[in-house]
Parts: sequence; structure tokens; C-alpha cells
Amino acid sequence: ISGPGTLIFFGVTGDLARKKLLPAVYDLANRGLLPASFGVIGFGRRDWSHEEFVAQARVWVEERARTAFNEDVWNQLAGGFRFVSGGFEDDDAFERLGEVLQELDDTRGTGGNRTFYLSIPPKAFEAVCGKLNEHGLAKQSWQDPETGLQPYRRVVIEKPFGHNLDSARELNEVVETVFRPDDVFRIDHYLGKETVQNLLALRFANRLFEPLWNAGHVDHVQITMAEDIGIGGRAGYYDGVGAARDVIQNHLLQLLALTAMEEPISFNAAQLHSEKEKVLSAVKVPTDLGSASARGQYAGGWQGGEQVNGYLEEEGFDPHSTTETFAAIRLEIATRRWDGVPFYLRAGKRLGRRVTEIAVVFKKAPNLLFHDNTGADFGQNAVVIRVQPDEGATLRIASKVPGTQMEVRDVTMDFSYGTSFTESSPEAYERLILDVLLGEPPLFPRHAEVEQSWRILDPFEEFWAELTQQPEPYAPGSWGPDSAHELLAKDGRTWRRP
Ligand code: BG6
Repeated sequence: ISGPGTLIFFGVTGDLARKKLLPAVYDLANRGLLPASFGVIGFGRRDWSHEEFVAQARVWVEERARTAFNEDVWNQLAGGFRFVSGGFEDDDAFERLGEVLQELDDTRGTGGNRTFYLSIPPKAFEAVCGKLNEHGLAKQSWQDPETGLQPYRRVVIEKPFGHNLDSARELNEVVETVFRPDDVFRIDHYLGKETVQNLLALRFANRLFEPLWNAGHVDHVQITMAEDIGIGGRAGYYDGVGAARDVIQNHLLQLLALTAMEEPISFNAAQLHSEKEKVLSAVKVPTDLGSASARGQYAGGWQGGEQVNGYLEEEGFDPHSTTETFAAIRLEIATRRWDGVPFYLRAGKRLGRRVTEIAVVFKKAPNLLFHDNTGADFGQNAVVIRVQPDEGATLRIASKVPGTQMEVRDVTMDFSYGTSFTESSPEAYERLILDVLLGEPPLFPRHAEVEQSWRILDPFEEFWAELTQQPEPYAPGSWGPDSAHELLAKDGRTWRRP
């Protein structure tokens, strides 16, 4: 259970706050993980009273919370809800914010502990941090005479952390002049997912995998993040960003880091961060960027029995936009463990289905004496970690087909969260918000990891920016553009069909 405090959401009327953040706060309260002395302030442009905010938040929570709606839990939590109306540069609004924070400290016992959650466009980070600073809201300013403790002031920033390496550095400077580095929590919500944390358990709590987890046995690794939805409605954010900046720079490179890093001495934040950072800094940027990457943009057409718009036809989009909705890259890691093993990363919208998985594909067994009568390929073991949906892991192994002949075929051994555990997994944001309130940093990327990720992605982005042609169109419901398939075909491999 977290200690007393107030969580202030900037951008509280945005998609993320409505769909994920406020429902997660409710779920935490419902699980008994928030104290009675807890407050939530929504900060936004709407002209809402506290009561209107509570009514609206209730609708969002009822729609989206993971756990059942409980009137008593809600009433207790909502008693600490306040709304401050104003823009990000509005001094009066920040004055009012200060007053409301004080009022919550006085009436609910929130103890001066404050977490500022910036779920806002990155271009507004500087303004908000600046105003928090000017109005004395960000700095620890007093010490409790009884406990000698200083209340905390934390800030949570949502990705994207910048647009490239330079802007990420600038952004970091702005944030870290106002908040202490240890009080800055960068959210990569993939790290809050159970299955992503399970990667560490799978690798390091078992004897079976680690001896084979290296270039001697692994043929290649595929990391896929596929979504079946389009961008409709998110033009403001997505256009000009694209698939690689949206999810490869953060989620997929974090998955790569967890898959490829060495075993940390412990799972405390410093050890974990330093192993991730080490492996990211060993990632080699290919010299021939054209043949190590592919990108595409979804075209209009039929998907799942429905006629859908192409990216360029989506409402509010630049009809000449060159933003990619699909990107695939091939990376290598210059370490003894991974020498020569390609890591293929792909992410896209409007693909065949929603699935995120990591597939570690092994080399074939030597001297295969068996055959498959159908002529199908077999004997290439794989460990597939299914991040979502159907959370779990699968082992692909070859097995004898029943019958008189020694025929062999690939089969799967399956572990599924749904059938192995009775409790359902918390949403990533529940875990992450709780960790921020507890001041637990392991699941939040450090600035150095963010920098490494930009170092890896920037050359691809610069290369793509110079191309004159549009990203290659692909049919909705497909698995991306032809060039993505060629990327693997060149190496004599194929993408898995999840
Ligand atoms: C976000 C991206 O970080 O992750 C979105 O900005 C994407 O474009 C989303 O849709 C997917 O999250 P999840 O948890 O549904 O895989």
C-alpha cells in the first residue's frame, strides 16, 4: 500500500488518462493499495467544477476499470478528487493548483507528497515543468518537524521522450533542472506488463534456457508488435512520429534489452538498468540501412469484413504524409554472447491481428536423421514469449508423428497465464502508478537507456527522411509490406505468422 499523497494528472481529458490512468487508479484503490489519505487532481482546459470532474471520471472508470465497480470504494476515492481548470502556461491556474494541493494536505492528510503525471504532448513538458518550478510546487520546501522527512515531489513523463537523441537530451535537461533525477519516472508501459517481467523469470529462474541463450545455439530473434487497429483519431500525435518512434524506440528496444541482457547481480534498479544499458550500447547500427530496414503505410481496403480507410485517407491527415505505420529493422549486438545473431524487430498498425511476441529461434539440431512426409520444415526449436494477448510462452519442439514410420513434425508445449494462475494480471498502468507512488524505480527506463535507444534509431530515421518515395503501401489485415518479407528472405529466413 502506498503512503499518503496527491497524484496530479496534466492532460486528464486525453485518451490515455480516460482509458488507462484513472481506471488504473480506481483499480488500485479497489485492491486496497491506496491509503485513505490520497488525492487526485485533474488539470485541464475544461471549465469543470470538482463535482463535474468526479461525475466524468466515474463514467471513465465504469467503462474501463479492470475490477468490478464498488460504490464504497469509489466514494472514498472520489472524495479526494479535485479539478483545476487552466492551460499549461496559465499562472493563475498554477496558483490555484497550489491552493488545492494545500487544501488536500489539510483536509485529507496527503502529507505534502506530490506526483505530477505529465500525460501531455512533449512540447508542453518544458512549460509545465517551468510553471511548477516558478510556483514553488516542484521543490521539496519543508521538513516535517516530527519525522524529519521531506515530502516527495515526483514527476512522471509519458513517452515519446523527445523526437531524436538531441531533443531527448534537451528534454531531460529541462526536467532534471526542476526535479531530482531520482524523482523522474519515465513511463514505458510495456515494462509494467506481467509477461514482460516474466521474461526475467523465464530466463533467470530456470536452468533450461540460459545455457542455450547465445550465438552458439540461437539462430535469430524476432520481436513483433502487431496491432489490427488503424490510427483514426490520433492524427495529432501519430503523424510525423510513425511506427518506429512510436513503439520501436521504446517498447521494442526495451524488449530486446530484456531478452539479450546479461544476468544482473540483483533486480534492484541500478543493477537492472545498468545491464539493459550495457546491452543497448552494444547494439550495432547497420551500415547498409536500406537493406536492414523496411517501412510501409497501410492502404485502404477490407479488413475483417469491414471497409477501412487507408492512412492517407484518415480524417485530419496530410494526404501526402510520408509517416510510416509499419517499420521493421534488423540489428546485431556486438557481444560475445550475440555475435552474428540478427534481431529482427517489426511493428505496425492494421496488421493481421493484435499480437506482441518475442521469438527466440534456435539453430537446427545437427545431423537430422528424421523426415516429415509432408515436406514441411521441422526441427527448428523456438521459445516464444507471448506478451499479449493469450499471455504465456510456447516451446516449439519436434516430435514423432504416431504411426509405424519415424516421421517427425513440430509441435508446441504451451504455458498460458489464463490456465496456470487463477488471479488475472493487473494492467501495466496499475503496476507502474503504484511503483511511482512507492518510489520504486526498476521498471522505469533511465535516461541513459532512452539515449541509447535514440542512438540506435536515429540513423534509420535520418535515412528514411531522405527517401523521396512514399512508404510502401500494404493491405489492411496483411503482415506488412513486401519489403518486410524481403528483409528476412535476404537472410534465408521468414517471419513467424503469430
Ligand atoms: C502505445 C503507442 O505506446 O502503445 C500506441 O503509442 C499503441 O500507438 C499502444 O497502440 C499499444 O499498447 P498495448 O499495451 O495495447 O500494446
